[in-house]
Amino acid sequence: MKIAIINGPNLNLLGTREPDIYGSMSFEMFLDQLTQKYPSVEFSYYQSNIEGEIINALQLVGFEYDGIILNPAGYTHTSVAIGDAIAAIKAPVIEVHISNVHAREDFRKFSHVSGKCVGSIFGLGLKGYELAVDWLLSR
Ligand code: DQA
Repeated sequence: MKIAIINGPNLNLLGTREPDIYGSMSFEMFLDQLTQKYPSVEFSYYQSNIEGEIINALQLVGFEYDGIILNPAGYTHTSVAIGDAIAAIKAPVIEVHISNVHAREDFRKFSHVSGKCVGSIFGLGLKGYELAVDWLLSR
C-alpha cells in the first residue's frame, strides 16, 4: 500500500505556527510516529508553499499510489486548479484539515477540493491524517 501525504503552504511551520490552533508538534515528528505505526505502508511526503508544485505532486503520485492525503491549507479556499487536479487523477484523495475550518472565519468554510475528494476530515488535529490512513487501509 502506497500512500502519499501532500501538505500545502505554511504547514512546514507546524509546531511553531499558531500552536493554539495547530498544535506544537512538527509534521516531521508526527510523520516519524505515523511511519512507525504503519510499517506495512510505504509513505511519501511532500510539502510546498507553491500552488503549481502541489498540482505537480498530485499528478506525479496520482496514477501510481493507492491513496493521497491532502491538506491544501490556504489554497483549499482559493484554488480551482488544485480541485481540477484531484478530479484528473485516479488515486482517491482524502482532504484533511488540522483545525475545524467550519468554526473559523467564513472564508475557510468554502473548499474547492471537498467535492472532488472521497471524503474530508477537519478539526481533529494531526489525528486526522492517521484516520485517513486507517480509512485507506480498510478499503
Ligand atoms: C488548514 C486550514 C486552512 O484554512 C488554513 O489556511 C491552513 C491550515 C488546517 O489544516 O486547519 O493553512 O488547512
